[in-house]
Amino acid sequence: MSGLEALITGAASGIGRAIARRLAREGARVWVTDLNAEGAGRVGAEIAASGGDATARALDVTSRSDLERVAEEVYAAGGRLDLLLVNAGVSTMNPFLDLTEEEWDQNFGVNVRGAFLTMQTFARRMVGQEPMSGRELRGKIVLTASMAARRAAPLLVHYSASKFAALGLMQAAARELAPHRITVNAVNPGYVRTEMQDREVAWEARLRGATPDEVVRDYLKDTPLGRLETPEDVAGVVAFLCGPDADFMTGEAIEVNGGAWIA
Ligand SMILES: NC(=O)c1ccc[n+]([C@@H]2O[C@H](COP(=O)([O-])OP(=O)(O)OC[C@H]3O[C@@H](n4cnc5c(N)ncnc54)[C@H](O)[C@@H]3O)[C@@H](O)[C@H]2O)c1
Repeated sequence: MSGLEALITGAASGIGRAIARRLAREGARVWVTDLNAEGAGRVGAEIAASGGDATARALDVTSRSDLERVAEEVYAAGGRLDLLLVNAGVSTMNPFLDLTEEEWDQNFGVNVRGAFLTMQTFARRMVGQEPMSGRELRGKIVLTASMAARRAAPLLVHYSASKFAALGLMQAAARELAPHRITVNAVNPGYVRTEMQDREVAWEARLRGATPDEVVRDYLKDTPLGRLETPEDVAGVVAFLCGPDADFMTGEAIEVNGGAWIA
């Protein structure tokens, strides 16, 4: 990844943070962005402290003006973006019959509209840049979708629908961007230990009348490989998709969930 410019959304926490750290460790210059400016700053400082090249910026993926501002800065600094990691996402939990329009709009607002705006803002610039050094491609986009994009998730109707939609966006964009030599792929994580999971375990326990430990035990039972997923498990597959071995792949979503998808 040496010499490549990478931008990660939702990088203040969990999976985004692990992706930023992994790409930086492999030599990419990373733009660590998040709605949470302070958290992004912390991750940027962490990467810099371990010898990586990181710049942290506040970025709300639902805001076209935020995206334009950051894209202008990225292109002014390095003239290109090689790797775009569309990772920011949100969830809430509620049974289908109680789900509110606000929850629906918030999930679709970030997970679909935000992903679309992020991809479009940067792809418009990527199409005008030279290919990456020694490679056929101008750029690569990798989206963090979810196992819930493949398999209905209880209490997560809106989230699941938004992630199915995100895969539709990924595939359709992959077709249109292929002639520009830009690939678009996705990963589908499962039960990943992050702040999002901490929130979901607490909600699910309350909604099911179970204890948080019982909820986690069910996650483990649902995962053939028998442990919770780590953000680094996801980051490794994202790094593969960003690397040259995956340059002839586009429109693909890779399951990285310990087999939970097939359980
Ligand atoms: N944790 C899991 O089990 C799991 C499983 C499958 C998929 N995912 C997906 O992985 C991605 C990362 O999730 P995570 O578990 O690391 O969650 P997380 O809550 O730990 O981190 C998500 C980050 O996104 C940021 N964010 C939220 N809204 C934003 C916005 N509008 N603009 C920019 N940043 C915003 C948050 O501030 C936070 O730092 C999400 O897309 C999520 O849907 C998570």
